[in-house]
Amino acid sequence: MITDNVAERDFFTDTTLVQEPHPWVEALRAQGPLVREHHHNSIVLTGYDEVQDVYSRPEDFSNVVCVGGPLGGVPFTPQGDDICAAIEANRDKFVFSEHFITFDGEAHRVHRALLTKLLTFKRLKANEAFMDSYAGELIEAFAARRSCELVSEFSQPLATMVIADLLGVPEEDREELRAKVLPAPGGADQGEGAVFVDPLAVFTEVFTDYLKDRRAHPRDDLLTELVNSRLPDGSDPGIDTMVRLACFLFIGGQDTSAKLLASAVRILAERPGIQQALRADRNLIGNFIEETLRFESPTMNDFRLARRTTTVGGVEVKAGTIITLSLTGANRDPDYFENPNEFDMNRPKVRDHLAFGRGPHGCLGAPLARLEARTGLNRLLDAFPVIEIDEEHHGPAGARHYNYLPSYILRGLEDLYLRFP
Ligand code: HEM
Repeated sequence: MITDNVAERDFFTDTTLVQEPHPWVEALRAQGPLVREHHHNSIVLTGYDEVQDVYSRPEDFSNVVCVGGPLGGVPFTPQGDDICAAIEANRDKFVFSEHFITFDGEAHRVHRALLTKLLTFKRLKANEAFMDSYAGELIEAFAARRSCELVSEFSQPLATMVIADLLGVPEEDREELRAKVLPAPGGADQGEGAVFVDPLAVFTEVFTDYLKDRRAHPRDDLLTELVNSRLPDGSDPGIDTMVRLACFLFIGGQDTSAKLLASAVRILAERPGIQQALRADRNLIGNFIEETLRFESPTMNDFRLARRTTTVGGVEVKAGTIITLSLTGANRDPDYFENPNEFDMNRPKVRDHLAFGRGPHGCLGAPLARLEARTGLNRLLDAFPVIEIDEEHHGPAGARHYNYLPSYILRGLEDLYLRFP
């Protein structure tokens, strides 16, 4: 239990805090909805209204730091009350600047439009059959043992293979690609001089080959549609842009989706009443997933850069300030959610959480993530009449211990050992 003056600790490098983020978030909330943390000089927002406000004002807040956050920094000294021109002049010096999630305005809109057209209901429906049968295959591998380590044996491989199938990665290549997946950026264990390794870079070559191949030999898959997409003015975005988008899709949703599923299973294994309710009425799974997203937001923090001196919640924010949007904080804001620290899948505003962000950059993969979680949960509930936490690994009820990824961006279990008596 963290009991010291927790608000003064450095959330971005202190790996004990990311194991247990709520005391830090609540200590900051107690000081107000906007609090400057002094280690990296970022303003942290923990209030629902304030986070939503920033998400809805792209003209005042740039996405250019949304992955790097305070540790990625600003590659110039901000001066004056409007740094829009300086951001554009230095855009390519920000970390992850080649990925469209960090773009703003028109450049962002046209790239996002390319992906929106691809992630259709029809594609998702086609992907669902694979999702269901692959979840079944994964369960078969550990069912006889009556136990498993869920992250490595179920949630992570399911997330990787589902997105590989959705894109149209050839079956024979999928295992090899899965082995290359690197941890997402945001390692709190990297310390002050964090080196930002782009986890997408190792896939550039193979996705370039796929896209070139699809151009020459079209198939009925998302990669073919992507390589044949055109910008609104009819021009070809070019192979490099397509490759980056394909890599982003391949990696973007894997970690978060796998973490959502593992958190959901931990909650139902810890709470037999909830497990019973879900078994009795599978229609409740939808709300259960939404409440899991609120309660254990897989993305803990998102980031924006103030382009202009402006105000948030009545407080002045100087141009050049990196804003940390605490989704963990917003999703447990007592002014918005009644009894926010209680897991209540029947709460009235169960779908209002900000786990998928909001506004022009809101998550494009949310329907896929929801479907994947629902399919995984249904398959596990079908296969095992009882799902329990393995006490040998996590300790007895009331004295459990879990290992969370040492990340200041994502919240996710490193492992989850289960028993199926
Ligand atoms: C539980 C799972 C997921 C969570 C919690 C999540 C969370 C988020 C959040 C918070 C953002 C907003 C980033 C920002 O505004 O700075 C985002 C954006 C995005 N997500 Fe997800 N995501 C999940 C799954 C997925 C999946 C499965 C995919 C891909 C199929 C995906 C693709 C994207 C894309 C492409 C964007 C960028 C949108 C833009 O900048 O216009 N996500 N996600």
